Amino acid sequence: MDSKTLVAYFTKGGASEEYAKVIGETLTENGLAVELCNLAHDIPEVATFDTVVLGTGVRMFRVYRPWKKVLKQKALSNKHLFMFLSSGTAIEDSDKAVEKFLRPLVEKYNLKPKSLVSFPGKIPEKWAKLDGQKETMKPEKAKAWAQEIAHQIQSK
Ligand SMILES: Cc1cc2nc3c(=O)[nH]c(=O)nc-3n(C[C@H](O)[C@H](O)[C@H](O)COP(=O)(O)O)c2cc1C
Repeated sequence: MDSKTLVAYFTKGGASEEYAKVIGETLTENGLAVELCNLAHDIPEVATFDTVVLGTGVRMFRVYRPWKKVLKQKALSNKHLFMFLSSGTAIEDSDKAVEKFLRPLVEKYNLKPKSLVSFPGKIPEKWAKLDGQKETMKPEKAKAWAQEIAHQIQSK
């Protein structure tokens, strides 16, 4: 399979990186050629990829700024685009997180993503309740989403 897939993320607390790695591994297991990119180190040109998976966290009601540098690239318009968010909001309500943080950016940059999702982020330790801070991350959700992506790409 020649199709090249970029999985690029920006993280501050580590959740988006963990999800990006699960997504990258799952796509690779499904036969896609994946390049994983931490946007803190490099802003790649999306033009050389067929499929682009972009993930970010959110803090203080804003997604991370370097992430938006990728959203601005004109070449995104003819890619298979998939976007994910890691957020505190998604621990309770993932649809709400998508509508609040991702949808406005999709409209602003006139993007046509095939799928928009939000996964539960990490709760900083200092905020966690003393009586039983539970694990909030759900890597199995990212895996299931990546399996859907692989299926969509390969049925083209
Ligand atoms: C200082 C701070 C501010 C945050 N603000 C928000 C917020 O406004 N909305 C939200 O849904 N989650 C918020 N969160 C939760 C983060 O979205 C969560 O920690 C997520 O894991 C961030 O992604 P990252 O780990 O990839 O950086 C905040 C977390 C921190 C530490």
